[in-house]
Amino acid sequence: MSAPGSPAGRSDLAGRFDLTGRTALVTGAARGLGRAFAVALARAGADLVLTDLPGAAGLAQTAAEVRGLGRAALVAEQDLAETAALHGFADRVRAEAGPLHILVNNAGTAALERFNEITPGSWYRVMRVNLDAVFFLTQRVAEHMVADGVPGRIVNVTSKNALVAEAGLAHYNASKAAVDLLTQTLAIELAPHGVTVNSLAPGMVETPIDGEFPFDREAFEAAYRARIPLGRYARPEECTGALLLLVCDEGAYLTGSRIVVDGGVLADQMPRTAYMPAYRSSLRLPPKDGTP
Ligand SMILES: NC(=O)c1ccc[n+]([C@@H]2O[C@H](COP(=O)([O-])OP(=O)(O)OC[C@H]3O[C@@H](n4cnc5c(N)ncnc54)[C@H](O)[C@@H]3O)[C@@H](O)[C@H]2O)c1
Repeated sequence: MSAPGSPAGRSDLAGRFDLTGRTALVTGAARGLGRAFAVALARAGADLVLTDLPGAAGLAQTAAEVRGLGRAALVAEQDLAETAALHGFADRVRAEAGPLHILVNNAGTAALERFNEITPGSWYRVMRVNLDAVFFLTQRVAEHMVADGVPGRIVNVTSKNALVAEAGLAHYNASKAAVDLLTQTLAIELAPHGVTVNSLAPGMVETPIDGEFPFDREAFEAAYRARIPLGRYARPEECTGALLLLVCDEGAYLTGSRIVVDGGVLADQMPRTAYMPAYRSSLRLPPKDGTP
């Protein structure tokens, strides 16, 4: 055994994060977090199956980035809101790509609406994509993982909104909270089969989600940044380390867990530091815009 910190020790450690020989399915892979997750998995050595809405413009770009890293990328378009089609979709993916080792349930949708203005159409659209699709896709993929005898890894991308509510997102908040408990339930049901299930809860990330803002987006985002202890939104790439831990051998004992990647938002009830007197010690507050 090599000594910790020695070059050999470091290469052993790198091996524990290596995904060579594994195949990962990432939903919502055309842009945003989904693209960052797919590219990170490819960097770690995995081959990819990329899915998003039929005709989603960015899928080809994500596939090109994965192939540019020397990994295979199968593009399999699917509207995840078509719940009844998801078992067939999982079967097709397995037939074309072989056994899946990793499933990243990342696709999601949101709409900013007051609770009393949410129509049944909007409510069920958010639930179908954010909750129902996660359940029915996972149901079939997990069966395949068990039948194929692989050490499966399932990661559900939730949100800090699974834990603390935000106005205007009743359907979104409820869908993400539901996925959190679904994650725990599947984790305990799948544990005897060697398949782990965890959730990754991002905070505010620079992606196109919530495209339509029915109010002053700039003012809202400035106020939000001031609430974030790290002082800025995350780049999608800053959520990929947590994903890699959840899917690699080094993370094998993590199941039914949640990793929050939110720059400290949930740790901070109220941004009191902005109102406190200046430090008398040598510690100085850095600027709030995130510059180090
Ligand atoms: N951006 C954030 O600040 C943030 C914060 C917390 C959680 N999240 C979660 O992260 C995940 C990714 O979000 P993002 O910010 O990258 O958003 P995004 O809108 O940039 O990407 C979401 C992707 O999901 C796809 N998608 C939506 N509906 C679909 C459907 N019916 N069938 C197939 N694909 C569909 C979209 O086409 C898109 O490519 C979501 O689950 C979201 O809720 C995002």
